[in-house]
Amino acid sequence: MRKTIIAGNWKMNGLRADAAALITDLRAKLDGNTDGVEVLVCPPFTALATAEERLKGSAIGLGGQNTFWKEKGAYTGQISPSMLKDAGCTYVILGHSEPRGRFGVPEPDFTPEILAHFGDCDATVNRKLKAVLAAGGLQPIICVGETLSERQAGNTDSVIQTQTRAALDGIAPESVPALVFAYEPVWAIGTGEVCEAGEADRVCGVVRSTVGELYGESAADAVRVQYGGSVKADNALDLLSRPNIDGALVGGASLKAGDFAAIVAAAPERQSV
Ligand code: PGA
Repeated sequence: MRKTIIAGNWKMNGLRADAAALITDLRAKLDGNTDGVEVLVCPPFTALATAEERLKGSAIGLGGQNTFWKEKGAYTGQISPSMLKDAGCTYVILGHSEPRGRFGVPEPDFTPEILAHFGDCDATVNRKLKAVLAAGGLQPIICVGETLSERQAGNTDSVIQTQTRAALDGIAPESVPALVFAYEPVWAIGTGEVCEAGEADRVCGVVRSTVGELYGESAADAVRVQYGGSVKADNALDLLSRPNIDGALVGGASLKAGDFAAIVAAAPERQSV
């Protein structure tokens, strides 16, 4: 039985005081109410120390939103896996579509030259995954997802298979069962346009079967696959009750304690509580 994992991706939101206030509100709603569900928040790097302090004694975990693949050195502006661990993180998001330069809501002034700033690609995601696994102690959440034009061209499954295979290139079989993936259709991120639950479940199944082709059935059964993209309190139950959806990666709705707590409450494990 795969344990549901609900993660809040705060993106570039929140000064330290905001992080402290949000965690206080979250703990008021969630402490003692997360049995059977894994819950974590991923604040901006600058708020990690505040978040770690405020989460002491709570079952809510802490994650980084990205990392670099080197441990240290002349890489101005980058953050290594061991720095995340030092900041109290036990999770890290890898390959989110935004650092890949693939936006659900395109910014009009993001010219191709500007878009190069958002430089993640399949090869860097793979390097980052290897670095995270080598460092140990961090649970990676590997994001995959198609853009609207890729979906309209009928390429959803091939994009998902390609991204999943590339992320896993050279990853040792013993590391695979513990991995978490997030299927995040780019067109559903921050747009309010959620992927229909049956289709989200089907594509999460594509991630799982791709893992199965590479590593066998028991690895495929073990990996957890979240859905992300406009998950809200009112659609969470439909999504989370699907067989291939093992959790949610929540952006906008994770910034409101009541909404995030309602999504956690929608986890199948919480339904009988
Ligand atoms: P959203 O973002 O919930 O605001 O659509 C999800 C994500 O990008 O992880």
